[in-house]
Amino acid sequence: MTWRPPNRTRHELPATHHPSREEAARALLFQPIRVGACLLEERTWVPAMVPWRATEDGFVTRENLEWYARFAEGQPGAIVVEATGVRDIPSGPLLRIGHDRFLPGLRDLVAAVRRAGGGRTRLFIQIIDFLAVKRRPDPAKFFARFLDITERHRRALALATEDESWTGADDARVRQFLAASPGGLIERVLDERELESLRKGYRERVTDTHLAHIAELPGVLPAIFAGAARRAREAGFDGVELHYAHAYTMASFLSALNDRADGYGGSRENRVRLPLEVYAAVRASVGDDYTVGVRFLGDEVIEGGSRLEDAIYFGREFARAGFDYLSLSKGGKFEDAEQPKVGHAVYPYTGESGYECMPTALSDARGPFGRSVPLAAAVKRAVNDDGDATPVVTTGGICTFDQAEEILRRGEADIVGAARQSLADPDWFLKVRTGRGAQVRRCTYTNYCEALDQAHKQVTCKLWDRARLDEPGVALSADGRRRLLPPKWERQNDER
Ligand SMILES: Cc1cc2nc3c(=O)[nH]c(=O)nc-3n(C[C@H](O)[C@H](O)[C@H](O)COP(=O)(O)O)c2cc1C
Ligand code: SF4
Repeated sequence: MTWRPPNRTRHELPATHHPSREEAARALLFQPIRVGACLLEERTWVPAMVPWRATEDGFVTRENLEWYARFAEGQPGAIVVEATGVRDIPSGPLLRIGHDRFLPGLRDLVAAVRRAGGGRTRLFIQIIDFLAVKRRPDPAKFFARFLDITERHRRALALATEDESWTGADDARVRQFLAASPGGLIERVLDERELESLRKGYRERVTDTHLAHIAELPGVLPAIFAGAARRAREAGFDGVELHYAHAYTMASFLSALNDRADGYGGSRENRVRLPLEVYAAVRASVGDDYTVGVRFLGDEVIEGGSRLEDAIYFGREFARAGFDYLSLSKGGKFEDAEQPKVGHAVYPYTGESGYECMPTALSDARGPFGRSVPLAAAVKRAVNDDGDATPVVTTGGICTFDQAEEILRRGEADIVGAARQSLADPDWFLKVRTGRGAQVRRCTYTNYCEALDQAHKQVTCKLWDRARLDEPGVALSADGRRRLLPPKWERQNDER
């Protein structure tokens, strides 16, 4: 089950007018903008989206090349390549950039985008670190193998059962008894983290400083990110985006839930310390003439988490430090995620915070469209008030020319991102720019694509993945039932 807003109603897609080619040419949306060392031809942006197309060991595949080339055909101002792992460790079919052996594939990716976009689209890559998340265990296995039995469990059992003999019981007896016990008793014996491991699967946190590799994160991450960023530059990307958003390591350092006592948690100043140290190392490794951006949260949308005031503070610090753009996202946390099925891992887009990250048409009174714009606008205002002109990217339920143009005109953001609308129709920017807005295939915001992401299946869109399956040479998903790319846009003669 996924969280749904109370009192929800289905929202109609926002109406829009379709500008003529001449009107589009004058529109703010299609004016160039400088982003650090590079110039975007227009203010349209495809934010990072994991399509589940890498090899099991993180290499670029032909499907990856075709995926990004297809987005480039729509010639947006910029595309950000999916979250790509900075470490040299196995992490399933997610792209990786933690070693030079990944360079040839990444170079091919850059070349594919340059070719397909006619050189008009700038290409950034989002780089990410994440901690261990284990699948929800079968309870029998959890009690037999995963749970560390300690004196605390024995004492709690003695208390709960009013039977002192538990204090001297051997591990096997404790394990067997717990495995056969009702939930109420288990709740009295296991602590909160153990219960979470049983019910949702074990999940590391940046606050687990009793674990050496977690305590050491501030010592090791700057160099790891710097190495990844250096490779991004060597591969030919126009810039690198540090992933400080959602449920992952760097966002967890920024989180108000981070109470590390080593100078990297607690106050905002301490929570932003490592993100700034990582930035400094990245900057030193790529130089000043390279675009380095950041994606972070305008609001974590979890109890006790960071709110807009934190985001404003972080945004100002990031701009002052020298980041070339600030891309705002919202939510997407583990803390409020739904319980996964046994054998599945918890997915950070199933709770309320996940809803806020990718809101659907079934929404509360505010609706999903442009829902996160006020967060970006508040960060932008504060950054600009400091005298920094760092471009701000806003994303979330933006799918029409009118919406995008209004956001820019009102000065709420400098660049407009659209993830799902671009997946529904990667040509939509080009269609609007060339006076063909009426031909845009419009995203319905029902999150079929997100469900595929959750199931770690190749991401496609329901609006096109069953269309023209008999086309010669059409690439199909692993189950053979869906096409992996939208059909080509068939332009009419008058458009040439
Ligand atoms: C399939 C899918 C994969 C995504 N993967 C990423 C990701 O790798 N990194 C990231 O920062 N956001 C990711 N997102 C979030 C989007 O970048 C975007 O913020 C979100 O979908 C809301 O924008 P939209 O309403 O335009 O879709 C993903 C979204 C989708 C639908
Ligand atoms: S699957 Fe649904 S939500 Fe996802 S891009 Fe397509 S229409 Fe939009």
